[in-house]
This record gives sequence, C-alpha cells and structure tokens, in this order.
Amino acid sequence: MSTLNRPAPTRDPRGRRLRPKARKAALVVHIVAAGAWIGLDVMLAVLVFTGLLTSDPGTAALCYQAMPLLIWPLTTSGLTCLASGVVLGLGTHHGLLRYWWVAVKLVLNIVLVVLIVVLLRPGLQEAAEFGPQLDGEPATVDLSGLVFPPVVSSTALVIATILAVYKPWGRISGSSRAVGG
Ligand code: HEM
Repeated sequence: MSTLNRPAPTRDPRGRRLRPKARKAALVVHIVAAGAWIGLDVMLAVLVFTGLLTSDPGTAALCYQAMPLLIWPLTTSGLTCLASGVVLGLGTHHGLLRYWWVAVKLVLNIVLVVLIVVLLRPGLQEAAEFGPQLDGEPATVDLSGLVFPPVVSSTALVIATILAVYKPWGRISGSSRAVGG
C-alpha cells in the first residue's frame, strides 16, 4: 500500500499517549508495586506488634533487629509505585493533576516515601541497635511509637487503592464530567 492510500493517523480525542500493551504493562508494574508495598507494611506491623507484645525478650530482640531489613524493599516498592503511577497518569487521559483521585494518590505516595526515608529509616535503625540489649532483659525503652508507621502507611495505601478503583470526585477544574474513569 502506498503512503498516499494509508489512512491518516487519527488523534485520540482523550489524549492517550501509551499504546494499550504498554499501558497494561505499566498497570501490572503499578499494581504489583502497590500490593508489595501493602504486604511489606503488614510485615512491619507483625514485627512491631510481636516485638512490643511478646513476653520473650529473645523474640523481641529478633523482631527489632529484623525491622531495618524492610527499609529498602519499602523504599523500592514506594518509588516503583510512584514512577509507574506517573507513567500511567501522563500516558493516559487521566493526567497527573486532572482528576482529584490521581492528584490525591500522587500526594499520598510522595508523602509516604518521604516519611519512609526521613522518619522510618532512622527509627528502625534505632530499634535494631536497641534489639541486642533486649536479649534476656525486659524492655526499658518505650518503642510504642513504632506502631504508627505501619498503621498510618497501610491505611493510606488502602485509601489510595479505593481511590484507584472508585475514581471519585471528578475533574479538578474546567470540566463538567462527573467521574474520573
Ligand atoms: C499511593 C499508592 C498507590 C496505590 C496503592 C495505587 C493503586 C492503584 C491501583 C490498585 C490501580 C488499578 C485500578 C484499576 O485498574 O481499577 C491504580 C491505577 C492507577 N493509578 Fe495508582 N496507586 C498509587 C499511586 C499512584 C500515583 C502516585 C499515581 C500518579 C500520580 C497513580 C496513578 C494511577 C492511574 C493513572 C491509574 C489508572 C491506570 C489506567 O487504568 O490506565 N497511582 N492505582
């Protein structure tokens, strides 16, 4: 077929940029990263609650020493979720700041990753240093603050998942469209 007979490429009226296969690949990465992130938060919660509630100092010491192992997996899954989410936003009609549900997820994702690096990392390293002192001894330092990171993060991630599925609140501005999907 000559180039003259070929139909002119049509512009997607919704402004999509990713081809369907690429969008699906990015979506798989995004969902796997989000799922892994939630799973890692659950693991952290199990370690924190076991460390705080067990009556066996040896078990508590092991839990505290294991906690920092989760920092890199948490950071990697958070950043992968963010990067794939940005690719999906920019590569589809959803945009990054076009719909409330995407913009809120963007803010949640950035805040959570910053909290992992700025607050959680030093907190878990401190707990790990404290762990060996516990071996055979009852706890003398209050580590109850460690409960908040996994609880807050997994709650925020469940909210982000609900936003992704229900896509509430419509466009941020300039449209009468009621839903963001
Ligand atoms: C905060 C953590 C996040 C979680 C737990 C999360 C979760 C999800 C899930 C489960 C889906 C699949 C929904 C479905 O197919 O029905 C999805 C889709 C999507 N997410 Fe996220 N997400 C997060 C962060 C982000 C970020 C930071 C962005 C972009 C700024 C983003 C943009 C999108 C877009 C545009 C889709 C729709 C993709 C499509 O159907 O083409 N997400 N997200």
